[in-house]
Amino acid sequence: MRTHVDFHSLPVLLFTLSLLLGQSRPDPDPLQDYCVADNKNQFFVNGVPCINPEQVSPSHFVTSALSKPGNTSNISGFSVTATNTVNLPGLNTLGLVLARVDIAADGIVPPHSHPRASELTTCLSGLLLVGFVDTNNRVFTQNLKPGESFVFPKGLVHFLFNRDTKKPALALSGLNSQNPGTQIASLATFASKPAIPVEILKRAFQITSGEVETIREKLGG
Ligand SMILES: *[C@@H]1O[C@H](CO)[C@@H](O)[C@H](O)[C@H]1NC(C)=O
Ligand SMILES: *[C@@H]1O[C@H](CO)[C@@H](O)[C@H](O)[C@H]1NC(C)=O
Repeated sequence: MRTHVDFHSLPVLLFTLSLLLGQSRPDPDPLQDYCVADNKNQFFVNGVPCINPEQVSPSHFVTSALSKPGNTSNISGFSVTATNTVNLPGLNTLGLVLARVDIAADGIVPPHSHPRASELTTCLSGLLLVGFVDTNNRVFTQNLKPGESFVFPKGLVHFLFNRDTKKPALALSGLNSQNPGTQIASLATFASKPAIPVEILKRAFQITSGEVETIREKLGG
């Protein structure tokens, strides 16, 4: 009896499978214990080149980058401080970063996405409303108290709001890429350099050119 998978369809099946698996792959696995970032190097690789392992010291694996609150005095009232290959060279190639998110009383982290990472956020203080939008434009929101966590799936637009009108909020987020990338929807559309042609924004948002100008000015575009 012939089975469905014969010699002709097997390569196709394997190829399809590898494509499907590729969709959920995080940053590539390191091929050595560590690859401490050599930030002085001027050539580009997928990540940052490593320094000689013999020159590696414990200080390459420690950072106080997240110890201080960020300045939340901009219009949205938030500040994100993250580990990266400069302030924590030891995380190079390990496929993760940690970020502290400070949100002023009544402040927001406006809708944004991380093209290369999912994000698990834990509320440490304050009362947060968090949520994301899936590709069918369905919104999933949740209120978080200190100690509660929420996950934003990779690449999807998400936001945070500090519902407390008196006190600032603090959240800690882990992301599964050493370079998650961030695109804030409002800034990507209205504060890009150079600007997106007015005609496109007018029609995309169903607004007038005057309104496009007003939004641009407010967002520093
Ligand atoms: C925070 O940033 C604002 C404007 O960007 C600035 O005026 C203010 O001095 C900063 N505050 C601190 C504590 O650095
Ligand atoms: C507010 O500050 C954050 C960084 O702390 C920055 O990413 C964001 O672009 C700023 N927003 C505006 C509208 O300036």
